[in-house]
Amino acid sequence: MVSTRTPLIAGNWKMNLDHLQAIAFVQKLAWTLGDAKHDFGDVEVAVFPPFTDLRSVQTLIAADKLELAYGGQDVSAHESGAYTGEISASFLKALDAGYVLIGHSERRQYHAESDEIVAAKVKAAVGKGIVPIVCVGETSDDLEKHGASAVPVSQLRAALDGLPKGTDVVVAYEPVWAIGSGQAATAEQAEQVCAALREVVKESLGDDAAAATRILYGGSVKSGNIAGFMREPNVDGALVGGASLDVDEFAAIVRYKKHVGV
Ligand code: PGA
Repeated sequence: MVSTRTPLIAGNWKMNLDHLQAIAFVQKLAWTLGDAKHDFGDVEVAVFPPFTDLRSVQTLIAADKLELAYGGQDVSAHESGAYTGEISASFLKALDAGYVLIGHSERRQYHAESDEIVAAKVKAAVGKGIVPIVCVGETSDDLEKHGASAVPVSQLRAALDGLPKGTDVVVAYEPVWAIGSGQAATAEQAEQVCAALREVVKESLGDDAAAATRILYGGSVKSGNIAGFMREPNVDGALVGGASLDVDEFAAIVRYKKHVGV
């Protein structure tokens, strides 16, 4: 069956680009994709700037009526209160953020985010009508010990636990060993794990959600390898780190359908 899911190409800027650089970047991205007559209904595009950029990005996108989506790179599990340094889902919603990254491996590794914390953050986002992009993935150690799917599957099960059937989520499969390493998974490896993750979505959120949920691959995605991933039936887009910081390269990833063979 041909998928009716709209592919999503998402740029995770991590801790790069301040708010002035963000404005220049988003303007240039909009021009580049506009010049190329990119159809945003055909491939959706989202950027994930640092928190301090979001208001500027929102203002630019609203003022120029750009079709780009945007969101935060993280969110607090709490609604408000004495949580120094945290940003609530309400704050993101007030900036019209459509998405939020949750459980990125850098948050799990450097900020000790457990599966329970990730699940609480997912609930906080969903509660405010923000679509969580739930990030899961195995380390090279996990890969050696348990194979590719075991850890991502258990992480996703935990993240979706207790959500109502039919909840709108996006999943990002990002093998930790592929992030920033220049060594992407093969398209076949990505497909195998993404297919297993779709089964988890089915168990947790039901058949309709499983058919509708976008599952992205992330980890050293570039314009040169994106088309291969997108040919796989269970890969519905990409979460792009390093290559999302170069407008021309990111635009080329977004326009993967123009590449030979797709
Ligand atoms: P990368 O990062 O594209 O630089 O490998 C991906 C990510 O961390 O989301």
